[in-house]
Amino acid sequence: MYTGLQHAHSGLAYLVLIALIVVIFLMLIGSLSGREFTEKDRKIALIAFILSHVQLLLGLILYFVSPVGLSLLQGGGAMSDPAARLTALEHPLINIVAIVLITIGYSRAKKAQTSRAKFRSIYMLYAVGLVLILSRIPWGAWLG
Ligand code: HEM
Repeated sequence: MYTGLQHAHSGLAYLVLIALIVVIFLMLIGSLSGREFTEKDRKIALIAFILSHVQLLLGLILYFVSPVGLSLLQGGGAMSDPAARLTALEHPLINIVAIVLITIGYSRAKKAQTSRAKFRSIYMLYAVGLVLILSRIPWGAWLG
């Protein structure tokens, strides 16, 4: 179960990052061009929203079964080891914050009155979320 989850979390990470970048780009262009925010735009933003939530779910389960998740915190000494602190604390915490921001960006867009405000809510909050995610990826373990 652990290996399957780890592979799924590792593979889905590509899709989440690509989806966020594409959505941010499209919403920015939409806002700058002054066009209407359409149902298609909402659905595109929803794809990145759903992918990031599935990743959150996989990450949460992984956190309890991985040898570099919660178990490192219980063992003690993780705080003084940067690699251990990253997977056991920083990556999970920062990513939860990032996904909360993405959720706010999406739901605010639904309530916003103007097309510009809708585009803006998505590209701004998705972009902050993306920067947070990128800041705490265990790059060495993932691509190394
Ligand atoms: C959009 C959000 C997230 C992205 C893009 C992401 C991405 C990644 C990547 C690329 C890795 C390295 C995988 C590898 O070694 O091949 C990883 C590992 C990990 N992630 Fe996430 N993650 C996200 C959210 C979360 C959350 C919310 C949690 C926990 C609450 C979490 C828990 C973990 C754990 C415990 C590992 C280490 C797994 C292991 O090697 O045993 N992740 N994540």
